[in-house]
Amino acid sequence: MSQFLGVGIMYNPSLQGFFDTYGDAIDYVEVIPDVFLTDNGVGHPNRFALSAGSHEKLCDLSARWPLVAHYVGFSLGTAGYFDQEYLANMVKFQDIYKFKWNSEHLSFSKVHDEEVGEYAVCLALPLPFDGEVLEMFAEKTKKIQAALNTDFLIENNVYFVHIEDEDYLEGVFLKELSEKGNCGMLLDLHNVHANATNFGFDRKQFLDSLDLTSVQEIHIAGGNVIGGMYLDSHSGPCNDEVWELLDYVVPKCPNLRGVTYEFHESYFDKLGNDGILAQINHAREICNKYIKSEVCL
Ligand SMILES: [Fe+2]
Repeated sequence: MSQFLGVGIMYNPSLQGFFDTYGDAIDYVEVIPDVFLTDNGVGHPNRFALSAGSHEKLCDLSARWPLVAHYVGFSLGTAGYFDQEYLANMVKFQDIYKFKWNSEHLSFSKVHDEEVGEYAVCLALPLPFDGEVLEMFAEKTKKIQAALNTDFLIENNVYFVHIEDEDYLEGVFLKELSEKGNCGMLLDLHNVHANATNFGFDRKQFLDSLDLTSVQEIHIAGGNVIGGMYLDSHSGPCNDEVWELLDYVVPKCPNLRGVTYEFHESYFDKLGNDGILAQINHAREICNKYIKSEVCL
């Protein structure tokens, strides 16, 4: 079994007080490298520029906890284009910050045009679970995995429309992607909950359809209903269904390395430092039921 790092939190700037007061309660911090830099555009000589103070902040965090990288801007689902510069920056960041592992999403957020360049939609849009998409995506994850000296994971996405006539069920697609793409899985249980709430499938049956040996990280979060759809808004504490899914799936994931709690900084006041601590402690209680303490750091 891979070493279990423990329970971590997704970094956002509202966490400073929590880190000062309860920093010992977490085992690692997950960062989104994209938010620490400015993308000056494809072909720019200084394409990815760290924002002022970002290097110092990342160094401060890494001096206290192991760091994990969760990218949001690669747009691996963009057809016909692979952003070699983005990968080069990923490798550079890995050399500097020594992330325990790296991850991205099963989605696309940019379209590419040979004449004009890149259009960003600023949303993680879902992909159809089709054979062509699988081949295209797996080729990209293989390249990334070969370039990194850590494991590279892909996160299951949330979707708000049903795409007709797909070649694969989502669980089978994710299983095939792990095999063909030589990547691990970041299983976002809140995304599973959101999709199941909006499209009416059985959460546990879906989890059983995955290759859970590929799962190295789990995301947990909260959400809310807007306009009749349940959203992955990361709007506070995890709901009961997500805790139930965590308890269900942790003992079935033999290669699990971490459980990460995500919340959006705009909901900090709803949680407060004690509320965040309660989420971390609840996740740890569940992990401790199934994962022996000697493998925890
Ligand atoms: Fe997530």
